[in-house]
Amino acid sequence: MKRTISFTVNGDSVQVDVYPHWTLLRVLRDELELTGAKQGCGEGECGACTVLVNGDSVNSCIYPILEVEGKEILTIEGLLGQENQLHPIQQAFLDKAGVQCGFCTPGMIMSAKALLDRSPHPTEDEIRHAIAGNMCRCTGYVQIVESVQHAAKIMAKED
Ligand code: FES
Ligand code: FES
Repeated sequence: MKRTISFTVNGDSVQVDVYPHWTLLRVLRDELELTGAKQGCGEGECGACTVLVNGDSVNSCIYPILEVEGKEILTIEGLLGQENQLHPIQQAFLDKAGVQCGFCTPGMIMSAKALLDRSPHPTEDEIRHAIAGNMCRCTGYVQIVESVQHAAKIMAKED
């Protein structure tokens, strides 16, 4: 039997009728049409589905939807500014070629966002640790680390 749960997504309050076995990723993609978070492994291994729940990065493919009640969800769609201006982290990934096929990119960027929110000037080790759960088959990670370093510089200038 379905239940109604309430939470916020990218600042908007939503109510969704859900089956208890659904995951957060399923609700985001299929009920709310927020398809930025990707379904990769579906088992909590690849990070393609990463979103923030109350500021912490989580694998939404294994996050039970009933645990979302009353929480704040941030997805890649929520990073866009006014008039669809890219977030500095998104711009940095473009500037430093941190995007190739793009499948891992929304998850990478959300993991980077969680890191930079708690540690605005991370070391390379901290960056690599923060994205350790995000798999990329294209870049070899060097450009992604450089993208996060570049994002930190852009965001420091904007403060
Ligand atoms: S799709 Fe969620 S961790 Fe791979
Ligand atoms: S850019 Fe293709 S998987 Fe990362």
